[in-house]
Amino acid sequence: MKIVMAAAECAPFAKAGGLADVIGALPQELARLGHEVQVIIPKYSLIHDRYQEQFQKTEEHSFEFKDKEKNYAIYELNMHGVRFLFLENDSYFERDSIYGPDDAERYAFFSRAVLDFLMRSDTAPDVLHVHDWHTAVLPFLLKEDPQYQQLSGRVKTVLTIHNIQFQGNFPKDVFLEQYRMDEKFYENGQVAWLENFNSLKTGMLYADKLTTVSPNYRDEILTEAYGEHLENLLIERQADLHGILNGIDTEAYNPKTDEHIAQTFSVEDLQGKQANKRAIQKRCGLPEQPDIPLLTMVSRLSGQKGIDVLEQSLPEFLEGDVQFVLLGSGETHFEEFFQRLEVDYAGKVSVHLGFDEAFAHQLYAGADIFLMPSHFEPCGLSQLISMRYGTVPVANRTGGLRDTVDEYNEDDKTGTGFLSDFKAGIHFDEALSRALSFYYKPDHWNALIHNGMARDSSWSRSAKEYEKLYTSLN
Ligand code: GLC
Repeated sequence: MKIVMAAAECAPFAKAGGLADVIGALPQELARLGHEVQVIIPKYSLIHDRYQEQFQKTEEHSFEFKDKEKNYAIYELNMHGVRFLFLENDSYFERDSIYGPDDAERYAFFSRAVLDFLMRSDTAPDVLHVHDWHTAVLPFLLKEDPQYQQLSGRVKTVLTIHNIQFQGNFPKDVFLEQYRMDEKFYENGQVAWLENFNSLKTGMLYADKLTTVSPNYRDEILTEAYGEHLENLLIERQADLHGILNGIDTEAYNPKTDEHIAQTFSVEDLQGKQANKRAIQKRCGLPEQPDIPLLTMVSRLSGQKGIDVLEQSLPEFLEGDVQFVLLGSGETHFEEFFQRLEVDYAGKVSVHLGFDEAFAHQLYAGADIFLMPSHFEPCGLSQLISMRYGTVPVANRTGGLRDTVDEYNEDDKTGTGFLSDFKAGIHFDEALSRALSFYYKPDHWNALIHNGMARDSSWSRSAKEYEKLYTSLN
């Protein structure tokens, strides 16, 4: 099968969140299954030179966008059996951040350019797989704009929702100006929601199949509590909505070979894990004591992630014998909370605002406990990475966290972590206290580490589910 994925992010080239990790890893697994996979993202100038140096420019074209001829070029890099394509247009993508205030226009241009590019290719893909609001409009354009007629009969479309909170909502004029499609699509409500043009909704209506990134989140977004006002549309389409659990790139995240960490280790030989803990304590200026539980969080600092829960809970725990290291960035008030915490609990807390790939790996490897009090979590990758490095997740029972973290059972020593359940009134404090109570019981703690490290979080099973879905379309 020929599969084309179009998205706004792809690791390791351009990453703001988990979307990038999925676009970087799933295609490799599909290629391993024998498919011809192309991934197309914008050629942001922020992509590191070490990759840009390897790019080959293959094509240059122009097409009409907003009544003007606009140029774009395609660059190519073949890696791990996948053809990664980068679409260049400097006026839209020459920036030092992935996203910006004119994203409506930038991704409208990108979407149109992707279709222009596909129209010029020798063979049409069997499946065009788009992700999140940035590329969600593609299935609509393909079906409703007559200029793409030769493609629309042949190409099936899949839209994956990585986070239903981000919908790409813009005023009506944006739709009319950027897409130059008939106003009737707005007036009859097909692309509109509550007076706005809604990119994600448009994709939900037009894609042949819809997926989201865990089975439990799939069920949640069919309800008012999680559907972000789109639940009724999803209920209508629920026969076509599938929850397919994300995996992680098990080569990039491998404690046996990871070059970012102080010492590699494995489930058979956990000594290296202690060395990684020491390295973090040293780097962060925390007392280098092996037997103080080291808690960590690597996260975007947004409301979704439950930082408000930590605002309530963490200070009390920090009165006791624990250390906490944060890596992340986001909303200012959350950043300020962590900065205050670092002052108030000097010698116990270390806060790193920003993102640093190597340090993230070190924290996954060296910490004892990973905190994830998310209010909602479509899948979540951090808990999967943590478990792979023998770091025990304490998480809220929602979305993909519920599908991937099993509550520890001391009787038969099964389970991989500890869960709160906000909806059922089980507070995060309780889950964290339970975790800490087992920390000092080595046979239980070792069981937790072993169970987590033994979990298969690779893409192999889920890639086969996507394959099955694609096959059902053709
Ligand atoms: C978004 C979601 C996260 C998910 C990721 C990849 O970032 O918030 O839960 O793991 O997308 O699908």
